[in-house]
Amino acid sequence: MVRNVVTAAIETAGLVGAAMDRVDGPAKVTGAARYPADFGYADLAHAVIVQSTIAAGRIAAIGTAAAEAAPGVLAVITHRNAPRLVRAPGGLGIGPPPPLQDDRIVHHGQHIAVVVARTPQEAAAAARLIEVDYEPAEPMLDLDDPRAERVDNAARRDVSRGDVAAGLAAADVVVSPTYTTPTQTNNPLGLFATVAYWDGDLLTVHDTTQGPAFDRRSLAVTFGLPESSVRVLAPFVGGAFGAGLRTWPHVVLAAVAARVTSRPVKLVLTRAQMFTSVGYRPPTVQRVTLGATRAGELVAIDHEGIEPAALEDDFAESLTRATAVLYDCPNMSGRTSQVRLNVPCPTWMRGPGEAPGVHALECALDELAYELGMDPLELRLRNYAETHPQSGRPWSSKALRACYELGAERFGWARRTPEPRSMRRGRMLVGYGMATAFYGYVQAPCQARATLGRDGTAVVRSAATDIGPGTYTVITQVAGDALGLPPDRVRFELGDSDMPPAALQGGSGLTAALSSAVHDACQELLRSFAELADGGPVTAGTYTAILDDHGLAELSADGASARRTDLDAEPGIFAAKFAEVEVDPDLGLVRVTRVVAAVDGGRVINPKTAASQIIGGTTGGIGMALLEHTLSDPGTGRIANATFGDYLVAVSADVPDIDVIFAGDPDPMNPVGVKGIGEVAIVGVAPAIANAVYHATGRRIRSLPIAPELLL
Ligand code: MOS
Repeated sequence: MVRNVVTAAIETAGLVGAAMDRVDGPAKVTGAARYPADFGYADLAHAVIVQSTIAAGRIAAIGTAAAEAAPGVLAVITHRNAPRLVRAPGGLGIGPPPPLQDDRIVHHGQHIAVVVARTPQEAAAAARLIEVDYEPAEPMLDLDDPRAERVDNAARRDVSRGDVAAGLAAADVVVSPTYTTPTQTNNPLGLFATVAYWDGDLLTVHDTTQGPAFDRRSLAVTFGLPESSVRVLAPFVGGAFGAGLRTWPHVVLAAVAARVTSRPVKLVLTRAQMFTSVGYRPPTVQRVTLGATRAGELVAIDHEGIEPAALEDDFAESLTRATAVLYDCPNMSGRTSQVRLNVPCPTWMRGPGEAPGVHALECALDELAYELGMDPLELRLRNYAETHPQSGRPWSSKALRACYELGAERFGWARRTPEPRSMRRGRMLVGYGMATAFYGYVQAPCQARATLGRDGTAVVRSAATDIGPGTYTVITQVAGDALGLPPDRVRFELGDSDMPPAALQGGSGLTAALSSAVHDACQELLRSFAELADGGPVTAGTYTAILDDHGLAELSADGASARRTDLDAEPGIFAAKFAEVEVDPDLGLVRVTRVVAAVDGGRVINPKTAASQIIGGTTGGIGMALLEHTLSDPGTGRIANATFGDYLVAVSADVPDIDVIFAGDPDPMNPVGVKGIGEVAIVGVAPAIANAVYHATGRRIRSLPIAPELLL
């Protein structure tokens, strides 16, 4: 069923819906786009971080004399001489505790010193001269460690309904597999960098962040400053995948180094440091118990997940949010708990929660389909949730049925012969797999300002970021349509915390929030022009004349947005993912040969950048299924593969043509009709591939990544 319930939709005069090229494309390919590490200043000094080589214990002594005497060194900062900093209370954008506050070590790779010198080479050379005497303790590194504290930081997102035990007792068929997913590292291409300088008590920071206003708040609290004393700039960010959603200790250290040396300081993390310093996807162990009738009707779903948390940080993700809402099942329970270990702080990464959670659920569904002798797609359709299964309220929009139908048709699902190992291509085993995807995207409050000048050009500003999805472009399209201007008469500026505060670029929520705020600002601006015009016409052709008539250089208006609360409806984004694999029966090598992603995308502002996001997320899903795995040494917690040579990501040769289909109508939850597509892009890809591997080989691999040795 595809409902059409649009209210107050934006005018689509031509730009919204068009496959426009990226407005920032030329700046990026010519090198004109400036990323945080590209900002330099006279007197710029360079900071290099020294990290702990043990995971637990304390620093008994730290020798800095040789480093201090080394050429070019301006300062060596350790816990003995670092300024005391304020630990910010938890909350969105807030980082782990500030660094260098005492002698305790809680994880391998913890920052224990920062060396500041005239050049990066001098700083790196001096950093190697620091001598540390540790008093080590036995680290807690394993989820099973009996000493480790169990906590339930994500418990507020646990969901249950009905009576799972009674449902399971009444079921004809029960499956109860356990899945594990590994640590994965966000690993954007751009190394995280901070350039910080002080002007008296005013702190300016160029930073790799997904939310300048949040970064500003975090830094202001840490240094005991009013927010107005901190400015964060991030016009371009070289990817982040969630790692830029918090203010990390190295950002604080760059500002500390700038204060101590009274110079601007640049700090660029090394690739190895990126594995310990800016979060990662925590590993999970998940058991999914499904009970069904012979006819394939789900009567009980139980999903329990466990993951690590850092010792001094409360980051936690819920693994079972999608499980609560994907299927129409009367008895359901989903719980996620954490175990505190001597590990670096995890964080959000590419579909946090849902990417691993839906992997376990959708693989278990596939196992149930085989137990029932039922087609996996038919099993999903039999349990389709027409309304929100927990609240009983209607969905604001849901085109999942269309996604299943269009995706299956495009993929050729009907050609699948159900028996494992029944399809071949030459000597290769061929498998077809599918999975459903859901993401509980957020739409946080957001503000923007629109200004029209005498030159007939609109400038729109908001303190958002564009870490790659195409925010510069789609907001240009929204503002252009709202004001009746062509794209070359609209300039959208972002990435400055002095601009109107924007939502974080996370949780797949920024396009919905920001496009709505910009739409509102443009409407306000049109109203202001109408007042000035006093009944006369207001069109793109009259703006300049109206300003002239009133002797005005420009006219500005502010806009704001929030998710609608007046609708009796539940938001959510859905997708159906279909994957074909070829498995070499002798080598165990899996190659993904085709993917079809059918996405319930709401209003798609730009089909080109939107499809690009789905392709990117699918690529991440291929990596999650087959390659990505952050390995740490079980005895010491040292990360053993902290390079791009050893941490494998999907590259072009691993990625087949990806067919992207958008279905559905504009969503009524915001005036532009946007749903957040960023993260549903990766969700469901790994289970579709894992299910295809089972279909190809008859081997059910319940751990990721599906490495060749597991299939031999
Ligand atoms: Mo996303 S993991 O919310 O950047």
